[in-house]
Amino acid sequence: MVEENLSPADITHKLKTDFIGHKVIAYPSLTSTNDIAKREAKKGAREGTVILAEEQTAGRGRLKRAWLSPRGSIALSIILHPTPAQLPSLSMLASLAVARCIEKVGGLETQIKWPNDVLINGKKVCGILIESDVRGSAVDYAVIGIGLNVNLKPADFPEIAATATSLSHELGRELSRLQIIRCLLEEMENLYLELPEGDSVFREWRDRLVTLGKEVEVSSGKTIYKGIAESVASDGSLLLRQPDGSLIKIVAGDVTLRR
Ligand code: BTN
Repeated sequence: MVEENLSPADITHKLKTDFIGHKVIAYPSLTSTNDIAKREAKKGAREGTVILAEEQTAGRGRLKRAWLSPRGSIALSIILHPTPAQLPSLSMLASLAVARCIEKVGGLETQIKWPNDVLINGKKVCGILIESDVRGSAVDYAVIGIGLNVNLKPADFPEIAATATSLSHELGRELSRLQIIRCLLEEMENLYLELPEGDSVFREWRDRLVTLGKEVEVSSGKTIYKGIAESVASDGSLLLRQPDGSLIKIVAGDVTLRR
């Protein structure tokens, strides 16, 4: 392996951010970085605090699925205090930051599958889970959880082997997780600070979506919708043109591309 355990000091040293990653709490193993980040947020953790784990024993994904994060992967959560208007953009900016860093550090081409899966050659390399606590009209906190398959062999994990990939698998060599994490924290902050300035984050995310224009199946709750993924709204929801010509808005779900 390229590196042993990641050290908070190595991550924060000369990091080019104003607040994201100024405090990093690292664990060799924990249940879920999102759970610990939520606990820290409730205790008043500073904006930008990062919870990092070498390994999660109960990693969680979207739609109540489990998330596998063995050693060699990146599992981290960032605590933010966005405004209610910024909340829907967090999913966009997190997937964009991951896509940009994979390209910058690994030189690999990526795609984003709605809403925020990052793919390489059609296989999932990164998943993002955003959880927030909204009280009335205020956001108490939001936690952005990022799970990125870096140095691992997908074939060693039969549960995900058919649908997932890793950076080392795609590149044929291991990559520095430290370099990727530092890039992620910097890109996340740049994009977060861009949010009040217009819709550049939304536009870049939309333009990178591999889903648009495709015939898809979307499972949302207990329903499966079929149709053409026509566009996305600025709140991140998917606009699906159904076979009967009607257009529906899907806020959360899982997309499968149909041939
Ligand atoms: C998904 O694709 O369903 C989202 C996966 C999110 C996984 C990350 S790993 C770090 C953070 N901690 C968790 O328990 N989940 C997220």
